[in-house]
Amino acid sequence: MNTTAARRRIVAGNWKMHGSRAETQALLDALLAPAQIDERVTCIVFPPFVYLSDAARTLRGQPIHLGAQDVCAEAPGAYTGEVAAPMLRDVGCDYVLVGHSERRALYGEDDALVARKFAAAQANKLLPILCVGETLAERDADQTYAVVGRQLDAVIAVSGVAALAQAVVAYEPVWAIGTGRTATPQQAQDVHAFIRGRVAALDAKIAAGLRILYGGSVKAGNARELFTQPDVDGGLIGGASLKADEFLAIWSAALADRRAH
Ligand code: 13P
Repeated sequence: MNTTAARRRIVAGNWKMHGSRAETQALLDALLAPAQIDERVTCIVFPPFVYLSDAARTLRGQPIHLGAQDVCAEAPGAYTGEVAAPMLRDVGCDYVLVGHSERRALYGEDDALVARKFAAAQANKLLPILCVGETLAERDADQTYAVVGRQLDAVIAVSGVAALAQAVVAYEPVWAIGTGRTATPQQAQDVHAFIRGRVAALDAKIAAGLRILYGGSVKAGNARELFTQPDVDGGLIGGASLKADEFLAIWSAALADRRAH
């Protein structure tokens, strides 16, 4: 059975803390140009929180989905500065990133908090994209699988393996994020296969359907080679998602048939 054929690819743009209101609108307008993006490859954009409502209005009825870059693990309440999962749903988000390496490294989010965010997202019908990945020091110390396995297990321990049927995993090696140093297709494939194998040990069917995205210096020039790896189901794009032409080219690369390679 060709288990890759059943998984619809995803190309997602994490805009991080970039752009103004006008730039957000201009980028969306460029992505929505006719005959560009359609549902053959799921496209998701993650603008900053404050632009989500405007983006949702622009994207209504369009083939681009909306997500938030983070979510609070708590229910609505006295948590100054935080944004709760029901609020994200309310403004039109379908997806949310949890455990992005910048949240882990710069804001001290540990595996336990990420697991709670994942659960809060699902409890409110948001589809979490769980980000995992090792630092350069961890890779050099041969800890890649230990780190990625630990990050994945923390979520499974809280939500159960069945929860991965309504989630996406993004492998983002920290050393490849914003550095221009992309993982080789083989390096990405090896870790993706490890992730799928770890899930398969618990539930083969969920593992076969799980979308695993690669993130870290994906560009139009390297996307196709990455996406044609058997366990790479698309990409989570940072810098290159801020340029419409580049992001559209990456989205188009995801249309390529794996079996042609
Ligand atoms: P870059 O594509 O800029 O390396 O960022 C990747 C990333 O962090 C996406 O979430």
